[in-house]
Amino acid sequence: MEQPNSKRYLIDPHLDFISAEGVPIHEDFGLDLLTLELAKWPRIGGDGAYALVKGRGDFLDMYVQELPPGGEGEPQRHLFEEVVYILSGNGSTSVDTPSGKRSFEWGPKSLFALPLNARYQHFNGSGSRPARLVSVTNLPLVLEAFHNLDFVFDNPHVFEDRFGDERHFQGEGDFIPVRPGRHQWETNFVPDLSEFELQEWKERGAGGRNIMFVLADGTMHAHVSEMPVGTYKKGHRHGADFHIFQVTGEGYSLLWYEGEPEFRRVDWRHGVVYAPPDMMFHQHFNVSPEPARYLAVAFGGLRYPFSEDKRRTFMGMDVSVKDGGRQIEYEDQDSRIHALYVDELGKRGIAPRMDEVFDPARA
Ligand SMILES: [Fe+2]
Repeated sequence: MEQPNSKRYLIDPHLDFISAEGVPIHEDFGLDLLTLELAKWPRIGGDGAYALVKGRGDFLDMYVQELPPGGEGEPQRHLFEEVVYILSGNGSTSVDTPSGKRSFEWGPKSLFALPLNARYQHFNGSGSRPARLVSVTNLPLVLEAFHNLDFVFDNPHVFEDRFGDERHFQGEGDFIPVRPGRHQWETNFVPDLSEFELQEWKERGAGGRNIMFVLADGTMHAHVSEMPVGTYKKGHRHGADFHIFQVTGEGYSLLWYEGEPEFRRVDWRHGVVYAPPDMMFHQHFNVSPEPARYLAVAFGGLRYPFSEDKRRTFMGMDVSVKDGGRQIEYEDQDSRIHALYVDELGKRGIAPRMDEVFDPARA
């Protein structure tokens, strides 16, 4: 006989919630967000689907929303953080702030965050083309902690400290210089990630450049990194949940756990997303005739690292594993890594430009 409380264990409030939303839940190591199958999503408007990658970690999820031509999303308000990246289309988002409504116009490769618990609404600005948005959120964290939908979706508290300067809704921001790899740009909205000016970060590899974002004073992290033509970064590892989106160029990543004989490979281009799973080494390679730039969105940022793992990551991501850090220097890497890269570039008629930083003969 079934006892009244027989199901009251191993409860997953987040999985229960997204399963009841009535849209597909796609789950894989990596996903192509541009071709993902979607379904009508009455709660948020338009069509959508959840897109869960294996390396998402415990605290983040991801979903795609597509607004039809001339369409709009439902007004929303929620007690979880959300970072939005525009995959295709043009439109605008309005946000209610304590000093009035703010509105900004986005296009392909825009990045923004919704201030915590602020009411907002998305609008497709085109009458002929759909607009496709992808959001990474920390809903799993919040729902697992409170498991109460009214508290999360119908909460009157106004977080006055999360709206930031009015300029932060207009595509402007504040540069916060720290040191290479830790320079930050504080804002709510970046109009076009493909054009954003990056800062030098030699320690992560050949000619690499980067910027860390602080969005709507949130705890979620975002950064953009770029590899010049004919170069690849150094391998490294860290905890789960860095969702990687390609912004410009094409390339691939190799991933492996320490001691594994073979690499796992992910080929990327605009629309592809994946997340390196917990402490899995990974390394990014540009094989295109233009600089390859990617966006990473994660749980716990440079300002509010949230976990001990993130503190170690942000301090040790460009320090050799031999010195207690999390990076593999070029001369210490598996010899197949450089050979494969030279081979891949050869197929495309592109010359490697690694000579200045790496001599395979000395490895
Ligand atoms: Fe990484």
